[in-house]
Amino acid sequence: MTGSQSSFPIEERYDLKLITTFVLNKKYPIYNWFYFKEGFSRDFVEYAVNLLWYEPKVVLDPFVGVGTTLLYSREKGYYSIGVDASPLMVLISKVKTRDYDAKLLKEEAQKLFKVKFRKPSLSSVSSFVKQFFNKYALEDIVFFNELINSIEDEKIRNFFKVGLICASSKVSYAYRDGSVLRVVRKNTPPFRKFFKRFVGKMIKDLEKIKFLSSEPEVRLGDARHLDFLEDSSVDAVITSPPYLNKIEYTKVYRIEYELFLRGEEPDLLRSFIGLSSIEESYEPSIPPVAKAYFKDMRLVLKEVRRVLSEGKKAVFLLAGGVFPTGVVESDLELSKIALEEGFKVERIVALNKRVATRNRVEKIGWARESAVVIRKE
Ligand SMILES: C[S@@+](CC[C@H](N)C(=O)[O-])C[C@H]1O[C@@H](n2cnc3c(N)ncnc32)[C@H](O)[C@@H]1O
Repeated sequence: MTGSQSSFPIEERYDLKLITTFVLNKKYPIYNWFYFKEGFSRDFVEYAVNLLWYEPKVVLDPFVGVGTTLLYSREKGYYSIGVDASPLMVLISKVKTRDYDAKLLKEEAQKLFKVKFRKPSLSSVSSFVKQFFNKYALEDIVFFNELINSIEDEKIRNFFKVGLICASSKVSYAYRDGSVLRVVRKNTPPFRKFFKRFVGKMIKDLEKIKFLSSEPEVRLGDARHLDFLEDSSVDAVITSPPYLNKIEYTKVYRIEYELFLRGEEPDLLRSFIGLSSIEESYEPSIPPVAKAYFKDMRLVLKEVRRVLSEGKKAVFLLAGGVFPTGVVESDLELSKIALEEGFKVERIVALNKRVATRNRVEKIGWARESAVVIRKE
């Protein structure tokens, strides 16, 4: 260990645990368009800005997910930049953070819902996808998808595409259970009506939030290589990387990729944190998956340090990993690496904790979910 810090006190604020989840976003227009189980809330971003102790001008989220950091930044007037390795996340974040001409959207919606239903062929839909929908809903979804694909204006096309993705996920039988998709049948509303209502809500939502800064830059990319950003070009990072035990969760978006983003599936092994090769040992007590994860997180921290201005801060929200050998304390591991890479670890605030078990019954400890605040020295 370099630097002079030798221990990292952990503050406990378990009363705030809800802010680490997506649930609170349900009440915020636009933030709630796509339910992202792995996302944090607008309230978390607000809390993270408080942890900085200064008002940032340019905020980066290198694991942007569904764009919550960017939306909050736009509301507060900070310029922001988002990066994600998943094309689905990039599409959703982009669509949520653009400026629109509501009149054009209304006209396009009117055109779209005027077109009479023609039964599409489902021959290109895999049996994997078919099991998650009632046949009539799936026919409607494929029908609208074809219509939307023919909209010329890219911004408008993407807006309706995201509407369709959100509406279809609400009528699908898919239940995301960790890294697996399960079929859970339920009664679903008639799709056309439901989709129309959803698009209407999206257009209304646009009027409910006032943005104070310009459109953020949202990019498909890799948090380990932020080459497009210059040194010292941002003054805050607010982010949550994939969690240690859940790094493969993009598999659960297979339905969205097959139906709406064919050919754009992310290259998991190349682009996802923790899935690349495992080489030199980091610490013998850490399982190989966690070693690979922290090796990648070191690269992320190096890049974050490079792009941050001197004295400015990054807030990482991350959770401990549970392994048969025990709990890996991600907040402390990240802090150690941050210190080695030239940061000062300012605070670790534990916001949530889950019981960690072996074989589902034997309790082996607690896995904390914490905000780690680090400052570029
Ligand atoms: C925990 S989620 C972030 C959620 C986000 N805070 C939100 O509220 O929507 C982690 C994100 O990291 C992305 N990701 C995984 N590996 C990445 C990489 N190497 N570079 C950039 N993004 C990556 C995943 O696609 C996922 O969207």
